Formats: sequence, C-alpha cells, structure tokens
Amino acid sequence: MSSSKPHILITEPIPERVISFLQEVGEVTVGEKGTYQSEENLIKDIPDYDALLCMLSTPVSENVLSQGKKLKVVANFAVGYDNIDVKAAQKYNIKVANTPDVLTEACGDYAMGLLLALSRKLKEAEQYLRDGKFNGWEPLGFLGMELRGRTLGIIGMGRIGQAFARRARAFGMKIIYHNRSRIAPEIEQELDATYFPNYKELTAKSDVLSLNCPLTKETYHLVDEALLKLMPEHALLINISRGAVIDEEALANALHRNSIAGTALDVFEEEPDVHPKLLSAPNTLLLPHIASATHKTREAIGMLAAKAITSVLKGRHDTEIPNLISP
Ligand code: GLV
Repeated sequence: MSSSKPHILITEPIPERVISFLQEVGEVTVGEKGTYQSEENLIKDIPDYDALLCMLSTPVSENVLSQGKKLKVVANFAVGYDNIDVKAAQKYNIKVANTPDVLTEACGDYAMGLLLALSRKLKEAEQYLRDGKFNGWEPLGFLGMELRGRTLGIIGMGRIGQAFARRARAFGMKIIYHNRSRIAPEIEQELDATYFPNYKELTAKSDVLSLNCPLTKETYHLVDEALLKLMPEHALLINISRGAVIDEEALANALHRNSIAGTALDVFEEEPDVHPKLLSAPNTLLLPHIASATHKTREAIGMLAAKAITSVLKGRHDTEIPNLISP
C-alpha cells in the first residue's frame, strides 16, 4: 500500500456519503460483504491500516488489535461494542468509538413496531391469508393482546429503552424498568416509569418484557430458564439488544411448551445463525438485526463513526470526540 495519507479500512459497504467523507482525509478500502466477519482476514490485513471502521459483526479481538501496528482508532458502525475488546485496545493505545444517540429514534420506532406486530399476531395472520385460509371474517380469529393498560417491563433504560417507553406510553402502557442505576427523576416522571432494583421482580410483573441493555458479563444469558419461568403465560418478550442476553435454547423450550405467549427477536447469539428450535417455535418473529435500518439513521451512524476517525487522525483531543469509549 502506497501514499503518505492514512489508510482507512471500512469492513463492509456503507452509505456512499460516509465513504466520500473519509476519502477526503485518507486512502479508503471498503471490504466486500462478509470478508471481515471472522478474525482471519482482519489479522492478515490490519497491519496496513491507521484506522478501522468496523461493523458489529467484525470481531475486533486482542489477536486483531495486537497486529494493528499502525492502528490508531477503531470506530464501530453501531452503538453496542461488545464485538471490540476495549481493554486490549487501551493496552495498545488504540482509541475506540461507537455511535450513540443517532439511532435512538429508529430503534424506538422499531421496538414499538415489533410489539404491535407480535401482540396482534400480524405474521401468522398474514401467512393464513396467503395460504388461502381466509374464508370470511372470524369473530374468534387471531385474538391478541391489547396494549392499553398493560405493563411494559424494560431491562436497560438507556436512550433506546427510554425511546421505546415514550412510544409505549402513547399506547397507554404502564412502564416499569430495571437499569444498572436509576434514571434521572425528571425522566422517570415524564415516562411515569417505576424503577425495580430487582429484575426478577420486574419480570414477574411484566406483560411485555423488553431487553434494551448492552451485552456484558452481567447480562450474558440474563434471560435463562429460571427467569423465563417467572414470566406470566400471556407475556411477550422483545429483544433488540444482543442475542446472547438470552439463553436461546431455554427460550425456544419455553415457547414450544407455551409457557410464554410469544417473542420478537432482532438479534441472535450466533448471528447470522439462528437456533433451529427458535425457527420452529410458535408466535415467534425473527428478524435479521435491522432495528437501526433506516436510510437516515444508517447514514448518521456512518458519519458519526467517520468523524471519530478523522478527529483522531487529525490529532484532536479526546474531549473533542464525544463518542469515544473510555472503559
Ligand atoms: C446495533 O445493534 C447497534 O448496536 O448499533
């Protein structure tokens, strides 16, 4: 690789405007779809690059970072950054950035959409029609859960949890939440949200349980067999956070025995693989990790990640880069 300009690797095709923006400061390589979904190609190629704009599907492990001899910054095209070994990045003096705020509203809309689709059985009903089974209006067909007056329990009341809560309030739902720390009193008041220090107690009280927390050591398989047993039989589970917050085998078993009423999952532990028992489970909406997938938001995500890269490459002070992660 030639030229004295910094070399920037973008691991997947992303909105063109973001690529052009980065081309103004460096020599940009855009990986073909899927090239960097395992460590192997990344370990081989990373020594050539000063900056990495990676996806949530890019495993930026210590093995990768230790080979980044010129690497100064890793910017994730996502708010969740469990794919990056942040401690190792610190050890090698590589800065890490993510993309908070810009995707909050798209994710709030999407969570509400999943809840509406799931609670009113839209997927099953549409399939019924396509299968030619709709032979006349049925008073007892596809009866679902009405949202007004129901309780939405949110685990992880950060920006996205709050955006979902705001929408659910407009549908007349009661909001309860669990979070590492209690949110500001004025936001609690605005959302009329009740804090539960104990997520198990929250689970037992929720008609709809929504996971909006990051994946950490503490939240790994937080929804396990024991927690699923605490959910009421009519309850629904929504996950737009990370797949590994749920023990998928346990969830699939609960769905197959009808011990909960349904689930909508946007994320999976072994993406792109989906647990086979989930594929055959009843009342299950399975989506390919698209909560932030709007034109506007994906461009904003890219620009925020790209600006962190250009700021680091231009030597700006950390305090001038609002989306840097400091562990
Ligand atoms: C998407 O899952 C993200 O973390 O931005």
